[in-house]
Amino acid sequence: KRHLISAADLTRDDAVRILDTAEEMARVADRPIKKLPTLRGRTVVNLFFEDSTRTRISFEAAEKRLSADVINFSAKGSSVSKGESLKDTAQTLEAMGVDAVVIRHSASGAPYRLATSGWIDAAVINAGDGTHQHPTQALLDAFTMRRRLIGRDAGIGQDLSGKRITIVGDVLHSRVARSNVDLLHTLGAEVTLVAPPTLLPVGVDHWPCEVAYDLDSTLPKSDAVMMLRVQRERMNAAFFPTEREYSRRYGLDGERMAKMPEHAIVMHPGPMVRGMEITAEVADSERCTVVEQVANGVSIRMAVLYLLLGGNEPAVTHARTTEE
Ligand code: CP
Repeated sequence: KRHLISAADLTRDDAVRILDTAEEMARVADRPIKKLPTLRGRTVVNLFFEDSTRTRISFEAAEKRLSADVINFSAKGSSVSKGESLKDTAQTLEAMGVDAVVIRHSASGAPYRLATSGWIDAAVINAGDGTHQHPTQALLDAFTMRRRLIGRDAGIGQDLSGKRITIVGDVLHSRVARSNVDLLHTLGAEVTLVAPPTLLPVGVDHWPCEVAYDLDSTLPKSDAVMMLRVQRERMNAAFFPTEREYSRRYGLDGERMAKMPEHAIVMHPGPMVRGMEITAEVADSERCTVVEQVANGVSIRMAVLYLLLGGNEPAVTHARTTEE
């Protein structure tokens, strides 16, 4: 494959290969010098038209660990603010000889347009587009689940068959939820969405998952509970329950977390709104993997870049580090 646009484009074998490669990349992070020469001489542009902390920083860390030349582009402060189009921006990058473009955009479909337009020759990686997809987030979430629920070594070659994953909250605006439902289904997990009816998208009954409205009865049957951020910035206030009502019915606090099985984990893609969808007590508990997810994001993004751009380079475990 040349691009990574949607989690739905990945087969089970593609996804397991990325997760396994990410485990190899994570071993690099355990070394004193955390660099591989794999992408030396290749140029990657991080093209961010929308705000980001985790995704932008972890792509940059992944690119640098693979020795790529990195160009960071933020729409704020660029000629986009003067009205320059995506096409002209892309062609400007193409003229500079770019090998891969990591793009985040508020418009659903922007990465697909970039990959299929013929404007550029580079590999395109979707770092989140509108309410559509965020495939590397779903991959890092699956990686975190596999490690925590199966084990770091025991998980190699495995999918998530039989694992029960509950995704809670603002599904309507969530590219994280869409990507996770697609990928988790491909990996054999059973997914349940729990959300207020006003925060569920039209057509959700055709998604490969269950829908429930009672969080308390779903928690005891969950191996992982993924809390979503309430995306006020994309929301028509008329459709939103009050903050207090939302927290009461869909927020995760210590009392609710106690209803989960002992082995079950709490996940959140970040950024979290503490006190709204998750209390500080839960966010800071040992069962919450939010910081682990960020660290795993670097390994996943290294794996994706390596598999898309590494070509015929040797497998990572046999590659020489820059210290050798
Ligand atoms: N999870 C996630 O995409 O976070 P950022 O918006 O900070 O990149």
